[in-house]
Amino acid sequence: MEYANDWEWFVRQFEILSKIDLHAYKRPQMERRINSFMRTVNVSDYKNFIKIMTDDKTIYRKFLDHITINVSEFYRNPNHWEIMERDIVPLLLKNRNSLKLWSAGCSTGEEPYSLAIMCKEKRFNLAERILATDIDNEVLEKAGNGLYAAKALQGLPGGATERYFVQEGEFYRVKDELKTSIKFERQDLLKDTFGRGFDIILCRNVVIYFTEETKQKLYRKFADALSPGGVLFIGSTEQIFQARELGLQSLSTFFYQKVLV
Ligand SMILES: C[S@@+](CC[C@H](N)C(=O)[O-])C[C@H]1O[C@@H](n2cnc3c(N)ncnc32)[C@H](O)[C@@H]1O
Repeated sequence: MEYANDWEWFVRQFEILSKIDLHAYKRPQMERRINSFMRTVNVSDYKNFIKIMTDDKTIYRKFLDHITINVSEFYRNPNHWEIMERDIVPLLLKNRNSLKLWSAGCSTGEEPYSLAIMCKEKRFNLAERILATDIDNEVLEKAGNGLYAAKALQGLPGGATERYFVQEGEFYRVKDELKTSIKFERQDLLKDTFGRGFDIILCRNVVIYFTEETKQKLYRKFADALSPGGVLFIGSTEQIFQARELGLQSLSTFFYQKVLV
């Protein structure tokens, strides 16, 4: 098969290797990240780079980590979590008894565990286990292990460390009662189909490298996956343009509600 240029060849070979389609990501940022990684492994062309990743799974894994950027935090942007706890969830619970929740792009688990802690602390009922998905199997494994450094737990509400974690040396492990309220699954937000009837979907700090077209398509899929009146919670640097066209209205910055029909 003929390719327009080396980049197109690389994108196709990488998709064969990883099932990830780099066309959905902003090319300049992606190229910069790829080139900086290639320098660290001393390769200067895409052909050798694909060969190295095919032969050496450790390098392939490191590269995936490098481009998916899975930094996360418990209660990231605490003031947004406060709005969710104080205003958004009580608003939703006016016409439902329980919540169906999804953390999309959950990385190493801090976000879904924060959701689970919030529900336990505030006695919000869950309709079913919280769905937590990511494209990256390695972060999902870490999330499932639920082992965090003490420093990572600083953002938790008072007493939550003792209630929901067990100390293991310098680390803290999530207790089973919290773990069992979450279902971790691998999912590519750009390719896979979504469930339905979610009351809150969190998709935060995931779309930063997606093209505008990809973002708009994704937000449409989220709007379809929400229950009527359900809420999409996005990242602190994000915004949904033409939310109305997707049947969403802004409730507060970073929270969009599916318009009731
Ligand atoms: C920066 S982390 C965000 C973690 C968490 N939502 C937060 O805000 O702290 C971004 C995550 O999005 C995931 N991701 C990137 N592209 C994805 C895709 N197409 N489908 C699913 N997850 C994806 C990455 O693997 C990474 O774990």
